[in-house]
Amino acid sequence: MSELSLEPLRADMLQAMRRLARSVTVISCCDGERRYSMSATAVDSLSTEPPSLLICINRSSSIYPPLAAGADFCVNLLAAQQQGIAIDCSGRLKGEDRFSTGDWQRSVDGVPYLHGAQANLVCRQDGRFDYGTHTVFIGRLLEVKLSGEIDPLLYVDGAYTTAGTAATAAASAALARCATA
Ligand SMILES: Cc1cc2nc3c(=O)[nH]c(=O)nc-3n(C[C@H](O)[C@H](O)[C@H](O)COP(=O)(O)O)c2cc1C
Repeated sequence: MSELSLEPLRADMLQAMRRLARSVTVISCCDGERRYSMSATAVDSLSTEPPSLLICINRSSSIYPPLAAGADFCVNLLAAQQQGIAIDCSGRLKGEDRFSTGDWQRSVDGVPYLHGAQANLVCRQDGRFDYGTHTVFIGRLLEVKLSGEIDPLLYVDGAYTTAGTAATAAASAALARCATA
C-alpha cells in the first residue's frame, strides 16, 4: 500500500483510539546525571511470569535516548488529581523542570519515582524492539509501591477524565433519556 492510500486508515484508527479509555502514566528514568519523564498511555502489563510490563516510546521523545542506552525505568500510574503532572510531562514543561511539581523520590535502585502516584512500578529494562516510529521497551519488575484508594486519571476522546466523572456523566445522560422518553 502507498503512503497516500494509508491516510484514510490512519484517520479511522485515530477516531477509533479516541474510544479506547486508558489510564495515564508518567514514565521516569535517569542516566546517572539527569532525570527524564514523559506522560504515556501506551503501557500495559506483559506477564506475571515473570512480572513484567511494556511501554511504547516514540523515538523522537526526550526520554528515548536514556532508555535506548539501557536505563531502568518506573511506570507511575497517575491518580485522578494529578492531571497537572500529566500535562507538565507531555510538553508544558521540559527536562528537569518536569520534576518541579510532585514529590519525586529515588527507588533503592536509583530510579526516580513519583511518590503519591496510584502505583509506582520500578522496572529493570529487559528487552526492546523497534516498530515504526516507536520502540517497545520491556521492563522486568523490581519493586511495586501502592498509594491511596483506586482512583486513576483516565484519558479518553482526547481529554482527561476520572472514573467518578465518567460515571456521573453516564448517569446524567441516562436520567436525561428517561426524562424525554
Ligand atoms: C495522554 C497522553 C498519552 C501519551 N502517551 C504516549 C505514549 O504512550 N508514548 C509516547 O511516546 N508518547 C506519548 N505521549 C506523548 C508524549 O507525552 C509527548 O510527546 C512528550 O511531550 C514528548 O516528550 P518530550 O517533550 O520530552 O520530547 C502521550 C501524550 C499524552 C498527552
